[in-house]
Amino acid sequence: MARLLIRGGRVLDPASEMDEITDVLVEDGKIAAVGQGLEARGAEVLDAEGCWVAPGFIDLHTHLREPGQEYKEDLGSGGRAAVAGGFTSIVCMANTAPVNDDPSVTEYILNRARSDSPARVFPIAAATMGLAGEVMTEMAALHEAGAVAFSDDGKTISDAGVMRRVLEYSKLVGVPVVVHAEDCALRADGVVNEGPVSTRLGLPGNPCLAEDILVARDLMLTELTGARLHVAHISSAGAVDLVRRARERGLSVTAEVTPHHLALTDEATLGYDTNTKMAPPLRSASDVAACRKALAEGVIDVIATDHAPHAVHEKEVEFTEAPPGILGFETAYPVVMDMVRADELSPLELMRRMSTNSTRIMDVPGGSLAVGSAGDVVVLDPTRQWTYDPAKGYSKSRNSPWAGQEMTGRVVATVVEGRLVYHCDRGVLIP
Ligand code: DOR
Repeated sequence: MARLLIRGGRVLDPASEMDEITDVLVEDGKIAAVGQGLEARGAEVLDAEGCWVAPGFIDLHTHLREPGQEYKEDLGSGGRAAVAGGFTSIVCMANTAPVNDDPSVTEYILNRARSDSPARVFPIAAATMGLAGEVMTEMAALHEAGAVAFSDDGKTISDAGVMRRVLEYSKLVGVPVVVHAEDCALRADGVVNEGPVSTRLGLPGNPCLAEDILVARDLMLTELTGARLHVAHISSAGAVDLVRRARERGLSVTAEVTPHHLALTDEATLGYDTNTKMAPPLRSASDVAACRKALAEGVIDVIATDHAPHAVHEKEVEFTEAPPGILGFETAYPVVMDMVRADELSPLELMRRMSTNSTRIMDVPGGSLAVGSAGDVVVLDPTRQWTYDPAKGYSKSRNSPWAGQEMTGRVVATVVEGRLVYHCDRGVLIP
């Protein structure tokens, strides 16, 4: 199998706290050596001078749309966009068509991903049949088929009794339940954060309370059941505070935040751009500040993109009619680099939240450059400037609020299982 020598980069390995300029050798799909002056001996050499070399990014929250909505994305295009964004392992949500509530769907996704996606793909299965919030799925069979977590994602499980049983059974299976926290009655038909911006826009508001109240409920149910809860795309200061206090009490709760909830406020929506519409919505500046602080402190464990492709014709409609969600893979790194530039996170700590911490939440490989670990590596240029054009990206969709914007920070190369699958000058190389 191929040998790849990544030479002279700033190696950032959160798993071992390493932050030094050195070489990394990847061989037979695994990290073979890390150290000064490693010899090429027939290996392909990647010059990483001036770059960061880290464990490949891991994304615990993505929508790859296959099966059923391949006009938006499929496992191949999603996987290519992922590696172009530096992601080596991606976890995909169950809201496909059909829903991933049956082991045959889980197996289908895994089989297609094996042949079509250069990134490793791990499915989250539905917690209830058809995401309808009523009848639980066969969790053991879905886990056996390869599901790494359970979630009804954007379809809230409104019945607390059902959620309690979901948590109880997930504990038997030994995987977390992921909650997209939005109380349906409080959200109602809200499409932007409730506050001065929704008033100015004349659009129905979706209050922070819709998120907070569901996080509070699910933390109580987590305490009751002793299960593991993972809070998806946390966005409100109130929810952050609830998670902080639950962790202090020793509950098994983890949380993720998206690049957009770290970088944009609801003011980005003032132009009615449907590419600023997502669920949960962009929040106020104080909510963004609370998320950034909690991420820096480790109360929020990971950054996850919530990559949610939608077709142009679906987004080019009135704001209230557009589906929520934006692309995430190819802009994640430059967007979150803002926290390093603002001195809120060190490079090593950013890599921990983009990679290593995810391996503690779900059973996904990577997150370490220790010898013998998965040969999943990303090479990053922290200062390279480029202009993002979704039309030149790898997703089938274009829905990004950063279209046409100047970015600082670029993924130079992505290595999955020891194979160079993406290089910024050569594009996606396989499959
Ligand atoms: O913005 C979002 N888009 N939030 C969700 O919960 C669903 C997702 C999608 O599937 O498009």
